[in-house]
Amino acid sequence: MAEKAPAEPGEPPAVTSLSIAESATANPTEAKATEQKIDPWSVSAATDAQGNVLAFDYEAISKKWNTKLLDQPLLERFERLTGHKPHRWLRRGLFFSHRDLDRILDVYERGEDFFLYTGRGPSSDNIHIGHTIPFEFTKWLQDVFDVPLVIMLTDDEKALFKDSLTFEETMQFGRDNAKDIIAIGFDVKKTFIYSDLKYLSMGGHHMLLNAWEFSKAVNFNQVRGAFGFDQSTNTGRIFFPNLQCVAAFGSSYPQVWGHDAASDLRSKKLAAIPCLIPCAIDQDPYFRLVRDNAHRMRFPSPKPALLHSKFLTALQGAGGKMSASNPNSAIFMSDTKKQIQNKINRHAFSGGQETLELHRQLGGNPDVDVAYQYLTYFEDDDAKLDNFAAKYRAGEMLTGEMKKECIKLMQAYVANFQEARAKVTDEILAEFMRPRKLEWGARKVARKERGEAVPPKGTEGN
Ligand code: TRP
Repeated sequence: MAEKAPAEPGEPPAVTSLSIAESATANPTEAKATEQKIDPWSVSAATDAQGNVLAFDYEAISKKWNTKLLDQPLLERFERLTGHKPHRWLRRGLFFSHRDLDRILDVYERGEDFFLYTGRGPSSDNIHIGHTIPFEFTKWLQDVFDVPLVIMLTDDEKALFKDSLTFEETMQFGRDNAKDIIAIGFDVKKTFIYSDLKYLSMGGHHMLLNAWEFSKAVNFNQVRGAFGFDQSTNTGRIFFPNLQCVAAFGSSYPQVWGHDAASDLRSKKLAAIPCLIPCAIDQDPYFRLVRDNAHRMRFPSPKPALLHSKFLTALQGAGGKMSASNPNSAIFMSDTKKQIQNKINRHAFSGGQETLELHRQLGGNPDVDVAYQYLTYFEDDDAKLDNFAAKYRAGEMLTGEMKKECIKLMQAYVANFQEARAKVTDEILAEFMRPRKLEWGARKVARKERGEAVPPKGTEGN
């Protein structure tokens, strides 16, 4: 089934098939076709009748969950309003789906405030490119929109959902992960990073109130199906989604807007601030829940808007998963140059042909070629990328050459990260995690100074 990369002098033998597919075919008589399964805690691709892992079907999941696919007119409007060419991950469909992005663009167009919210479940201190890419994208959104950003570290969730992890361990992973996230380059003035386990007891009182009120409006039947809960699910897991949901309410962060966090009263005005959440599609069940119930709060919040990404391709190929516990499944941010080179050469699934002659004759398939896929993540130049794909298809470019291009970019990306990460001190971490008033909107001020019309003042600074 899987195609082999042409062997080239000096290149270690390429992996010839999906290792997951191999283990799934170990007992072919028992294999049955299965459907893809996607919920916030487990994601697996479909398999065919032979047990081979198939690629994820993103259109199917968008249809099933009734999200909208991003389309050209929306991206054009984005560019018109922000003056920024859409990020390559938008242009190339890594972020492929949304809910109400058009409404956020309306808000932006009117010059009103909104905020960005994203998060990470700290289950390991070993992060890989599958973890950094969503944050890179969020940073880009923050730069483009010039809005405040809150980043939730769900150390509570990870301890509740992984039997082997203690709360102390996930808190520590959270701190390590926060440093990794900071290394991506977020602007401390506009970014608040918080640990669920700590923020709720140090100024996050309003978020806790929101979670209790929200939990009162949501019954077990509403969450059971979407989250796969049953009678034996621990009750912490059942409560947790409330917290991830109310993190999309502006009133959960009074400090960010300079409001009084000690007051017993939550702010109606802050509750009304719109929110945009960049996240992987598997997180959508949480946000459907909040979109369905936000209006039922005493101080209602608008339905948060969402921008959904696909899952990132594991080194073994589409349908596989990058996993913190499998060093050969991904490029890790702690990898050395040599490790990156070896991993890509040995483990990146190839869309090339069995032999050099066949490859020259028939050409390769960049769509399943992991080195090429990673180039689509990191090579910004569309023309260069198209040229690689065309030459690969034509058999002019070999797997080894594609891998070489990929290795170069990946090494540079990881080295940059490591340099930035080494500079993130405990003091810097503490500042990002301190509940405080954020500062943004410099662009609006600049427009005003240039005498351009500025839409009515939003909620900033009061
Ligand atoms: N539950 C997410 C995880 O396990 C973490 C998370 C919390 C999150 N809030 C979010 C992710 C908002 C994206 C957007 O990784």
